[in-house]
Parts: sequence; structure tokens; C-alpha cells
Amino acid sequence: MPATILVGAQWGDEGKGRIADWLAAESDVVARYGGGDNAGHTVYVEQKVFKLHLIPSGILHERAVCVLGNGMVINPVNLVKEINHLRELGADVSPERLRISTRAHIITPAHIALDGASEKKLGSQAIGTTLRGIGPAYLDKTGRRGIRAGEMANVEDFADMLHQAIQEANAAMLQQGLEAIDAGSAVAPYLDAAQRLKPYLTDTAVYLNGRLKAGARVLCEGAQGTLLDVDHGSYPFVTSSSPTAGGALTGLGIGPGYVDRVVGAAKSFSTRVGAGPMPTEQHGEIGDRLRGTGEHFWDEFGTTTGRPRRCGWLDGVMLRYAAQINGCTELFLTKLDVLSGFDELKLAVAYRLDGQTLTEPPTANRDLERVEPVYETLPGWQEDISAARRAADLPEAARAYIRRIAALCETPVFTVSVGPERDQLVRFD
Ligand code: IMP
Repeated sequence: MPATILVGAQWGDEGKGRIADWLAAESDVVARYGGGDNAGHTVYVEQKVFKLHLIPSGILHERAVCVLGNGMVINPVNLVKEINHLRELGADVSPERLRISTRAHIITPAHIALDGASEKKLGSQAIGTTLRGIGPAYLDKTGRRGIRAGEMANVEDFADMLHQAIQEANAAMLQQGLEAIDAGSAVAPYLDAAQRLKPYLTDTAVYLNGRLKAGARVLCEGAQGTLLDVDHGSYPFVTSSSPTAGGALTGLGIGPGYVDRVVGAAKSFSTRVGAGPMPTEQHGEIGDRLRGTGEHFWDEFGTTTGRPRRCGWLDGVMLRYAAQINGCTELFLTKLDVLSGFDELKLAVAYRLDGQTLTEPPTANRDLERVEPVYETLPGWQEDISAARRAADLPEAARAYIRRIAALCETPVFTVSVGPERDQLVRFD
């Protein structure tokens, strides 16, 4: 089994961090293929909470080598902070354990400022980005004027490039009546970070292909989710990368022949942060109950921004679509335990729009904003299921809910999580 792709099958925050942590135990290499520190993965190991934004959670295992792939956009200052945080918690983050692609793109201080400026300009139409500079960094990449991570090897040239990027951004900022960036103080920490990161720089596509040829098992770890994909999500309320399975191939430089397993991560209900259509969103009591109060790290508040997530019933139309787009060979459902105590559960199986029934999401947001979900109602369960470890430990109503999701998505559900601990998993095989 050479390469497995782990992909978010909703709007991100599906619990990919804990799934990656689980899959990493049987992987030699864990490679992230897209996005940047807009992502937030929380992993709970031996009562320690690890919050990761850039480095794959495979780093918490002794063996796996972690890769930040060419499809990523990297803020070097934040990456150094994350390396320091992990070291303080006892993880080995040496260059033998972590490889940074020379072809990944750098998020500059200019990108961060321009992200804020663009959101401000959009006003009520703002995307609700994480303000990490993601969109502007990808814009410069495709505009062929970005700075690649490999440039950090020559700190003087890197400094010149950063100054030029800031100079250009400042012209745009001043035009908008916004404050210019102070280049001196913005560049200095980048140069320190570049010195620290130099030993980690690698042509990771060459590295990965070499490992795959030698029979290593590679986990390709996605960030964000299918419904935030720049092609397949609810454009323009999307991120600027390709979190889908296809993105793993370009974002790492490996061929499709190596991939034989695509795990779609999905929460047992729906959540979304930021603006954009969300047909099954629930305001009021149900939404509040799904979200939790925020007192636990697993409650529905953003790991990166702390924003409360929008919550609602599971959208089976979207999940089915995501399973297709990614060619998922299995689904992994997270947070099933959160549904305990509901008398009944609703599952969207189709949409109604202008008198028609749709089983696929419409392309245009103006339509997606207007669809009415067609719900199937399933019986809930009252039992606490956090101690379940085998399918037989789950109440029949929980098993029926899982069976219905699998049938609707035409994809088997092999694993379900029932709590944040590493062993709180139920396998169906
Ligand atoms: P950006 O990626 O910061 O440009 O944000 C674009 C959209 O994607 C916004 O709606 C964000 O809230 C959303 N987004 C980006 N990263 C994540 C993530 O890791 N989880 C959930 N939503 C995300």
C-alpha cells in the first residue's frame, strides 16, 4: 500500500489532525500538500494538546519523516514558532524528521497585509479569510512573481526579494489609504527564520519519489476541505489552493499510480467558518448544541482564528459530491459522540430549488444560497458512546445513521471516532 491520501470532505475542520495521527502510525512519510498556516490541526496525545498549523501531525510519531510539499505556502516565522512549540513539548523536529520543499512558496509580510486590505475592501462581501496571507501568496505564485522557499538558502537575495515585495505592496496599500508596512521590522524576523530553516530545505518531490520507489508508505495529508477547493468549492467563498485528492499529486509531485487509498474525513454533522453558502446551517438551539460552549478544545471554535464555527445537520448532498470528486475509497466519520442525546437526527439527502429536486449541489452560489434541504429523519440515541470500540458497542440507531451515510455516498464508512483520545475509535471491517 504505497500512498494514502487523506482529504477533508467538507469545509475543513473535519478532524483530519487526529485521523492523520492515526494513519501516521503505519506510515514512513507524512507529507502535506497544500495550504499554509490557515489550517489548524489539534491532536490530543497523553493529555497534551498539540495545535499544529503547518507541520503534519506525523511528527508526533517517532518514525515518520514529515514533508511540507511544494503545493504549500509557508510563513517561515510561524513555522519556526511551531518547531519551537513542538520541541518544548518533547517532539523531535530535526532536519532528519522534517523536510521543506524548495518549491513551496513563501508568505511574505506583504501577503498578510494585502489579505487584510482585500477583505476590508470587500466589506459585507468579505470571504472571511483567516488573514494569514494565503490568497495573495497563491496569487503571486500563479502570477509568476512569488518567492520560493529555496530562496531562503541565500539570505541576502532573500532579503532583497522581501524588500521588493513589500515596496510593491506598500504602493497598493497607500493607494487604498492604508498604513504602509515598515520593511525593516517586518523583514528582520524572516531573515532569522531563513537561517534556522536552511538545513530543512529539500527537493521533496525527488525525496518522495525515491522513498516510494523503495517501498515506503506515504501518507499525503490534506488541509482545509473539498468544499473550500478553488475549483470544486463554493467559489469565491473558498481558499486559494486545491485541498482535493488531485491537489495531492501536484502539491507533492508524485504520480497517481502510487495511490491506492483515499480516505475522506467528514464530521458527523456540518460546520463551516467564514462566509459562503451552507444549506443545512442551524441557528438557535441545535446549532448551539452542536457547537459546544468553547470550554473544551474539541468544541466548534476555529483552531487558527478562534471564531465560532457555523454548525448544522450533516449535508449528505455535499458529502456525496466530495466522495466523488476525491474518488474516496472510504470515509472516516469524526465526532459521532457529539450526536448522543438528540431524539432524532436529520440528514440532507437532496435539495429543492425552484420546484426541482437536485441530488448534486448547483454550481452558482446564488442558487446554493436558495436551496432548501430535503431531510431524512433518523432516530437518535441517548447513550454515551465514548467508550465504544467495536461496532457492536454502538446503539443500533448510531449504526443505522452510519449505514445510511455510507449508502447515500456510495462509499463505505470504515472508521468512526467517538472522542478526542487516540484510542477512541470504532472500526467497521
Ligand atoms: P483563507 O484560506 O485564509 O484564504 O480563507 C478562505 C476561506 O477558507 C475562509 O472561509 C476560511 O474560513 C476558510 N478556511 C481556510 N482554512 C481553513 C481551515 O483550515 N479550516 C476551515 N476553514 C478554513
